[in-house]
Amino acid sequence: MAWLDLDTERWRCGPRGEEGHHDHVPVYESGSEVLQKFQEKWNSTKQQRYPAMYSSVVGGIILDPSMMVIPIDDHMVHRGHGVFDTAMLSNGYLYELDSHLDRLLLSASKAKISSPFSRETLRAILVQMTAASKCRNGSIKYWLSAGPGDFLLSPKGCTAPAFYAVVIASGATAAAAGGGGHPRLREGVRAITSTVPMKDPFFATMKSVNYLANALAMAEAEERGAYASVWVDGDGGVAEGPMMNVAFVTGGGDLVVPAFDRVLSGYTARRVLALAPRLVDAGVLRSVGAARISAADARRCAEMMFVGSGLPVAAHRRMGRPAGQVGKIALALSDMLCEDIKAGPDRLLVPYDQAS
Ligand SMILES: Cc1ncc(COP(=O)(O)O)c(C=O)c1O
Repeated sequence: MAWLDLDTERWRCGPRGEEGHHDHVPVYESGSEVLQKFQEKWNSTKQQRYPAMYSSVVGGIILDPSMMVIPIDDHMVHRGHGVFDTAMLSNGYLYELDSHLDRLLLSASKAKISSPFSRETLRAILVQMTAASKCRNGSIKYWLSAGPGDFLLSPKGCTAPAFYAVVIASGATAAAAGGGGHPRLREGVRAITSTVPMKDPFFATMKSVNYLANALAMAEAEERGAYASVWVDGDGGVAEGPMMNVAFVTGGGDLVVPAFDRVLSGYTARRVLALAPRLVDAGVLRSVGAARISAADARRCAEMMFVGSGLPVAAHRRMGRPAGQVGKIALALSDMLCEDIKAGPDRLLVPYDQAS
């Protein structure tokens, strides 16, 4: 191992000084030394291990977490030129994979990123990666990037677009899919109005990797003891949360999801819109629809809830309601979604166990 002695500004060989002392920055000449370092880090940390990753740069599925890396000159890393999407894993099925994959390709076309593979190949890679992970509950995340190449702003130097994906194991999804609802739901959650500027509709309607505004909005909510924040647009309309849509039930029994023209078209919210008419048939709701709703009207609503894959419904704890009590529509929608994730129509549930 060679290392740079910062006192003398000379390269030295042999053992360096104290571990972690940055006067002597180690230089690793061989890949095997670096791999050993990565493996030491993974073995010494309690950080979650990811059961599988796919990288088009490697051209295959990676099971060793210490090798789950992406190139530093990837345009997604240094310029944010990438898009992503997710899908939930529930009891060996990928829920709503096709809708999320369609949204990924839509985001990619808005971001001028061409896919290295056809849609069928992307889907087949995700199914095979998830099978190889042997994970039955959790989620997958996947990215299309302008790709590695150089460090310039122009994507012209990117040699080829890249596709990356990872499996994230989790117990929470299993609980939700078991029909018990998200653990927070029965108690309800707090929400605040975000002071972080919201994204322009062009950026908000695509799922790019630029989630700085979202991360700051989430941090703001947590600092103020809330579960999440809600953006209100320049015209006073309710927009969305930092990683979920929102829905309201008016005093008259109308279920309203803020229209998707300025926010991400969330598939959980769309599924709510497809399932909720059953509550109209049952006489519990008067109507269901996507529409503009002002923050002032939203504050007068009987119920508010966050809606997104991974929740799937988190009811807002209304002021004035006894602790632990949340709205009955939010509870009903949560049960319907959990049932849908567990035993919904075949087209929504993609099996992957058989692929291994
Ligand atoms: C900003 C934003 N809005 C809404 C959603 C909800 O989308 P979905 O229900 O498809 O997960 C997400 C989740 O990815 C999001 O990041």
